[in-house]
Amino acid sequence: MKIVWISYPGGAAAKEVPELLGCAENALGLQEMVRRHGHELVTTSETGPRLDPILADASVVIATPFWPTYITRERLAKMPSVKLLLTAGVGSDHYDLAAAAARGLTVAEITGSNVVSVAEHVVLQILALVRNFVPGYLEVVGGGWDIAKIAARSHDLEDKTVGIVGMGRIGQRVALRLRPFEVTVYYYDNRRLSTAEEELLGARYRALDALLPLCDVISINAPLTPATDRLFDAARLGRMKQGAYLVNTARGRIVDTEALVAALKSGHLAGYAGDVWYPQPAPKDHPWRAMPHHAMTPHVSGTSLEAQRRYADGIRDCLERFFAGKPLDRDYLIVENGKFVSPSYSYAFS
Ligand code: NAI
Repeated sequence: MKIVWISYPGGAAAKEVPELLGCAENALGLQEMVRRHGHELVTTSETGPRLDPILADASVVIATPFWPTYITRERLAKMPSVKLLLTAGVGSDHYDLAAAAARGLTVAEITGSNVVSVAEHVVLQILALVRNFVPGYLEVVGGGWDIAKIAARSHDLEDKTVGIVGMGRIGQRVALRLRPFEVTVYYYDNRRLSTAEEELLGARYRALDALLPLCDVISINAPLTPATDRLFDAARLGRMKQGAYLVNTARGRIVDTEALVAALKSGHLAGYAGDVWYPQPAPKDHPWRAMPHHAMTPHVSGTSLEAQRRYADGIRDCLERFFAGKPLDRDYLIVENGKFVSPSYSYAFS
């Protein structure tokens, strides 16, 4: 059987850093295991039309959000042998989930594999914005010493109000990591937590439109689904507090591209950070590269070397079970033989 692994080119780092399991060349460290089972693992960084002939006879596709391959309904129609779609990481919106379900396929991701990595990045980016870190760093690199220019936009996080939209595994870890900063935390999720969970996290529930004007900082941590696509449009950005910051490590399409640029240019928002874009890789002229007051990174928050080890282990587990004809780990399943089973996704697709 043919398994196709699609990921970013590792270049020189693929050899120099063998722990860089997530690049195309290092193939999650799975080449030997797949060969031992008598199957073929094909690796590629193609995402455009040249990928189609490679996928035509694939039984399993493994893709990664960091180099997303958009497996659309049209593309799936040209893949008659495919049975299993796997995501090395968390967030499987690069697959047309409704089309995959209609075909009776199974879709799984490595739930939990990089949630700590992302939560740490969220805290980093909140602090980068609030403390005005990036302009300070650039001042040093540029040989300057303009204290007033940097300090005029620098604040303490202490006593600020932070909103978390999507209080799942990452959102909860962000809340816990923010506790020592003495902030007030509100959250919105379409599934409200129990009182005991809220107390543990130090977070209070608010409906989204009530949360928006309350918060100095908002972190988006919900999956991209039809319900969250452009959830932060011009109207919702407009309801955010004047001078607030927005951090989005979830998916680029949850925030309207042009509306965000306008909100930063007008000064309504004081800053934006995150590591997710649409499309990816972001073209050189993507407006978010040049907009004011941003602290963006390429899509790296969930792919620290530790995270790569965890999602490589998870993919290995999925393939071993699949080869043995056993069901996949329930925690990993989004769609099982055509049925939505993950609570985080089924809300939007049922
Ligand atoms: P999770 O499934 O544990 O939590 C997601 C939460 O969002 C759930 O509590 C769910 O009820 C909530 N949710 C779903 N639809 C919602 C809606 N319409 N409004 C409000 N809340 C909604 O997932 P986890 O692990 O916390 O990851 C969240 C997302 O973060 C992923 O789906 C992925 O898109 C993104 N992610 C990004 C990474 C990166 O490297 N930047 C790495 C890992 C995840």
